[in-house]
Amino acid sequence: MLIRSARFIKSSPTLKECPADLKPEFGFIGRSNVGKSSLINMLTGWSRLAKTSGHPGKTRTINHFLINESWYLVDLPGYGYARVAARSREDWMKAVLDYINNRENLISLFVLLDSRLSPQKSDIEFMEFLGENQVPFARVFTKTDKLSLSALKSSVKMHDTEMFRKWETLPVTFFSSVKNKSGREEILNYIEESINNLSNNF
Ligand code: GTP
Ligand code: MG
Repeated sequence: MLIRSARFIKSSPTLKECPADLKPEFGFIGRSNVGKSSLINMLTGWSRLAKTSGHPGKTRTINHFLINESWYLVDLPGYGYARVAARSREDWMKAVLDYINNRENLISLFVLLDSRLSPQKSDIEFMEFLGENQVPFARVFTKTDKLSLSALKSSVKMHDTEMFRKWETLPVTFFSSVKNKSGREEILNYIEESINNLSNNF
């Protein structure tokens, strides 16, 4: 898919403040620092669209980016970040869970997983929550430039084995590196297909 335009629309602390127009949207979620904001920049080709940081806990609100004037990419705060006051962390998570469960035009989430890490409890529990709530999602293994192909394969195998303990099938899975722009076409094609498959509700 060709990205003709990408612009920041707004930063919303809660679902209530999210843009009123219900264009199809795709959210990016995962542990803090996994690369959600960086992936949005890589997909759009605008390197400074979403704010990124080497320090976890950068994105703290629900951020809407309008693509091709017709659909949204949504940058969400990360979970599993300890160095923020528990109270404010709970508030974001509440807002994010409310968004995930109740945003009518959310087509699918991308759950980002750091390909260097073994399966993390917070990711496993989060994907189970999505399953229980019937929220469609795809997995993206990020930062693949940081490990060899064989290390990547064994990491993914561990993740898949862990998932098969609870799931009968695996979700759609992508691999990304913002460093060498890998995964871009695959993810954009998936988004395009998802939009094309929608009924005329939008
Ligand atoms: P929060 O907003 O804090 O939840 O983090 P985030 O998930 O949005 O992560 P962000 O995109 O800010 O990236 C965190 C760090 O990882 C930054 O230093 C990025 O440059 C780096 N990073 C992200 N993706 C990649 C990647 O594919 N390869 C490499 N080498 N570094 C990456
Ligand atoms: Mg971020």
